[in-house]
Amino acid sequence: MFSNKVQAIILAAGKSTRFNTGRTKLLEKICGQEMILYSTRLLESFNIPITVVIGYQKDSIKETIVSRHNDALNFVVQDEQKGTGHAIMCTQEIWHQENILVMNGDAPLVTADIIEKLYEKHITTNAEISFVTSHHAVPDNSYGRVIEEQDSIQIIEARDFHGDSSEHCCINAGIYLIKKRFLQKCIKDLTFHETSKEFYITDLIKIASDQKLTVTMVPALFDRIRGINNLQELWAAEHIKRADLIKHWMERGVHFSVAQNVHIDLNVTIGAGSYVGCGVHLLGTTQIGKNSRIQEFSSLDNTVTGENTNIMPHTILENSKLGSNTKIGPFAYVHDHSVIGDNVSLGNFVEVKKSSIGSGTKALHMSYLGDAQIGCNVNIGAGTITCNHNSMIKHKTIIHDNAYIGSNNTLIAPVTIGQEAFTAAGSVITENVPPQALAIARTRQVNKEGYATGSSHSAFVAAVKTNNDQASDHS
Ligand code: UD1
Ligand code: CA
Repeated sequence: MFSNKVQAIILAAGKSTRFNTGRTKLLEKICGQEMILYSTRLLESFNIPITVVIGYQKDSIKETIVSRHNDALNFVVQDEQKGTGHAIMCTQEIWHQENILVMNGDAPLVTADIIEKLYEKHITTNAEISFVTSHHAVPDNSYGRVIEEQDSIQIIEARDFHGDSSEHCCINAGIYLIKKRFLQKCIKDLTFHETSKEFYITDLIKIASDQKLTVTMVPALFDRIRGINNLQELWAAEHIKRADLIKHWMERGVHFSVAQNVHIDLNVTIGAGSYVGCGVHLLGTTQIGKNSRIQEFSSLDNTVTGENTNIMPHTILENSKLGSNTKIGPFAYVHDHSVIGDNVSLGNFVEVKKSSIGSGTKALHMSYLGDAQIGCNVNIGAGTITCNHNSMIKHKTIIHDNAYIGSNNTLIAPVTIGQEAFTAAGSVITENVPPQALAIARTRQVNKEGYATGSSHSAFVAAVKTNNDQASDHS
C-alpha cells in the first residue's frame, strides 16, 4: 500500500526497568504471544523492510523474532541503552528508503489503520516528520506531552513536564514517520539529557518545528497506542486484547457464558455454535470444532477438537487431538499427544497420556491409560490402570477392538488384549489375552463358614455392644 518508499525501525533495546522482573518486557506474553511479535507481525503485513534495534537481552529477543519470521527481519545492536534518540542514531547505516517509520516495540495494540493513516497524512501534507498522538487525561501519566504554542510544536517528556496535566492531555504515541533527508541532517542535533542520561527521539519534533518544517500529527484512540511500561499496564493491555478476541468469536457465533472470565490466546479458533463456560482457558493453537461445549474451568492447550465435543467442567487437555461427538470429564486429564477418536466417552478422574483411543470406546471412571493403543468400541472398566513403567523404561499396552476390560484391572505392559476378549473384574493381567478369550487373573475367593460364631470374635462383638449402650445412656 505504500507507494513512496518506506522502511521500518522497531525500538526494542530498552532495559524494561519499570517492570522490575529482571527480564525484558518485550518477551512478556499477551494472549499467548510475545509483546515484540505484535509490532513485527503488524509491520510485516505492509511488506516493507524491517529492522529491530536490540540491546538488553538481545539474544532472546532475536531468537523469538527469528523463530517467527526466519531471516526476514534485520537487527541493529544498541550496546548501551542511552534512550530512544540514541537507538535511532545506532541505525544510521541502514537508512536506505525515502521515509523511515519508527515505532516503539512496547505498543502491542496498534492496528494497521493507524499506520495507514499516518502514511497518508505524511504524504498528503508533505511532512518532514509525522507522528501519532492520542488523548490521555489521567494526571501524572508517563507519556510525553505534545505542547503546541503559536507556531511551535514540541514533546515534553513526563519527567520534565511540570504544567497542568488536565490542560495538556495530548500525548505522544511513539510512532513516527520521518523523511530520511531530515533524519540525516538533524540526528546530530539531538542533545543528551543529563537528568535521564538519555537522547530523546521526541526532540526531533521541536527541531523540525524550529526550522519551520512541516510536522504532521495523526490522532488515534488511546487504547490502541498504549505503551506497556509495567506489569499493571501489561495486564490492562491483555485485557483489551482478550476483549477484542472474544468480540471476534462472538461475532462468529460463539456463546461465552461469562466472557470477562475466560482466557483466550491469539491463535485459538472456535467453531460456530460452540459454548465456552466461565473460567475456561483456551491456550496456544487450540482449535475447537463447531457446536462444541467447553464447560466451566476447563483448560485446553494446543488441543484440537472435532465437532459436537462436550468437555465437562474441570477438564485439562494438552497437546492432544479429539474426534467429533466425544465427551470428556468432569475432572479428566488428556495429554502428551494423545489421539482420541469419535464418539468416545472419558469420564471423571480418567487420565490419558500419550495414547490413542479408537472411536466408540468408553472409560467412564477413574482410570490411568498411559502409552496405550486402544481400539474401537472398547470398554475400560472403572479403576483400570495401565502399568506402563517398570522403573526403567515405558512399555505399551495394546487393546484391540471390542475388548471388554472389567473393573479394577491392572494391565502390566507390555501386554496385548485381543479383539473381543474379556478380562474379569479385579484382574492383574500380566500375559497377552487371545482374541475372544476371557482372562481371569485374581485369587479365588475363600468363604470361612461360621467364622463369626468363633469365641474370640463373638466376645469382641458383645463388648462393643455394651460400650455403645452405656454411651447412649449418658447422652
Ligand atoms: C516514549 C516516548 C514518549 C511517548 C511514549 C509512548 C521518548 C523519549 N519518549 O516514552 O514521548 O509518550 O514512548 O509510549 O521516546 N528503547 C530502546 N533503547 C533505549 C531506550 C528505549 O530501544 O535506549 C526502546 C524500548 O525498548 C521501548 C521503546 O524504545 O520499546 C520506548 O522506550 P520507553 O523507555 O518505553 O519510552 P517511554 O518512556 O515509554
Ligand atoms: Ca514505553
